[in-house]
Amino acid sequence: MCSWTDPACIRGIRNTLPAVDSFASGSQVNFLQATTIPLRSQVRIVFRMTATVVLGAQWGDEGKGRVTDYFAESAEFVVRYQGGNNAGHTIIIGEEKFALSLVPSGVMNQNAVPIIGCGAVVDPAVLLDEMEMLRSRGVDPSKLLIDSAAHLIMPYHRALDEVLEARRGDANLGTTKKGIGPAYQDKFERAGLRMQDLLDPGHFRALLKNRVAEKNHVFTSAYGLEPFDAEVIADHYLEMAETLRPYIADTTIVLHNASKAGQNILFEGAQGTLLDINHGTYPFVTSSSPTAGGVTTGTGLGPKAIDEIVGVSKAYITRVGSGIFPTELFDEDGVTMVNLGHEYGVVTGRRRRPGWLDLVSLRYAARINSLTGIFLTKLDILSAFNEIKLANGYMLDGEVITEFPRDQRELARVSPIYETFPGWKSDVTGARHWDDLPSEAQSYIKYIEKAIDTPIRWISVGPERQQLLER
Ligand code: GDP
Ligand code: IMO
Ligand code: MG
Repeated sequence: MCSWTDPACIRGIRNTLPAVDSFASGSQVNFLQATTIPLRSQVRIVFRMTATVVLGAQWGDEGKGRVTDYFAESAEFVVRYQGGNNAGHTIIIGEEKFALSLVPSGVMNQNAVPIIGCGAVVDPAVLLDEMEMLRSRGVDPSKLLIDSAAHLIMPYHRALDEVLEARRGDANLGTTKKGIGPAYQDKFERAGLRMQDLLDPGHFRALLKNRVAEKNHVFTSAYGLEPFDAEVIADHYLEMAETLRPYIADTTIVLHNASKAGQNILFEGAQGTLLDINHGTYPFVTSSSPTAGGVTTGTGLGPKAIDEIVGVSKAYITRVGSGIFPTELFDEDGVTMVNLGHEYGVVTGRRRRPGWLDLVSLRYAARINSLTGIFLTKLDILSAFNEIKLANGYMLDGEVITEFPRDQRELARVSPIYETFPGWKSDVTGARHWDDLPSEAQSYIKYIEKAIDTPIRWISVGPERQQLLER
């Protein structure tokens, strides 16, 4: 069995079986695309293609966009399974910088089919703008498929997001105000509108009229807002529907067939484990399931179809928006992280809150997601520090704990127990192999993987495509 995300395994097989090498005399991608390889005798090697999940192991912004872009090189399908345009995923290719919020980052591999699954929420105007932006910059998004059961973000969702945040006052969640929470709220209240509804104008107008009447009732009486006009919204959405029509499909069939045929499928998570509606730091979370479980409900592929689950973690940690953050830094070290790491939100431009790496929460992310490996990003930013800290436990009410509390009132009372490591104080941005890293960096990484019992299989040392190494 050989996993396409595991080049060491592929190299190992090539070395022991020269016949495979001669078959593969071409690019690595050709080699990987072969599902069965006949050898000289009756022996056949069956290469099982993998479905790989890339998800955030922290509070988002871990570098999922660049990691997806990296794995997408050999993917045939790249799938967003949750969230909406609250996400901001950055990909840097040479001089070009792309920030994507809805179209999967794997679109940069023009051979892959980008899919937005039913677990995502779609603001059609944002999606069309993003597709246009891609086209204008030479990236063709025309293979995109949007699941017909994905829910729509409507103008009243954005308005409600604003109103609810204002009403929360100092206890606001710090949402992106893109209407994400209210769109999922309608979904679970069974009052949402879906991509498929857009395909039948009469049906869409009737549904929307009913929904808007209900919303206006609450908006005007409870919040004193101007009522929405269902006809105006319908005209706008149905106009966009005509452009979107060819992209709307039952993507569960597409993915089922791809999985059955052993094609490479890559799932791109948005947000992160600690923002998960079930497993995150509730209520300071988003309204979807960025964790591995969300892949199955958000795409219609069963859990047995998934092989690899890669958690993306920075070598430190950031959080944007409100909520408890045990290792948060308010000192010069934090300022250094923000400045060197350019820690400002892609979607809202807000300054991200910085902190030392938290292994209590990373161990939790490894457990909740059954991670098979970690992709550690931004190691280069730690080059600036004389000493590097990480938390591997918390003090809670006078006792040491090593598991992440599910109770937010407990989390609010913890203080991190730090381990201190000597810094390496040298430029690692040119490292392309494990041996290129300073021994201090190697020790820091080895400590992390041992503490969370999950291998760190990839490390990035700069934002550019090539600035990474595989172990
Ligand atoms: P995402 O939401 O998880 O895709 O992450 P964002 O794109 O919001 O934020 C990650 C930021 O870190 C982006 O600006 C990336 O270009 C940048 N980045 C990713 N990996 C590295 C790295 O290894 N080193 C440095 N210096 N920057 C990185
Ligand atoms: P990517 O995919 C970081 C945060 C918001 C807020 C909370 C709820 O780029 O990692 P929402 O608008 O979702 O209702 O906001 O979640 N948040 C993110 N933080 N990265 C993201 O996405 C985020 N998407 C939402 O700041 O605290
Ligand atoms: Mg982001």
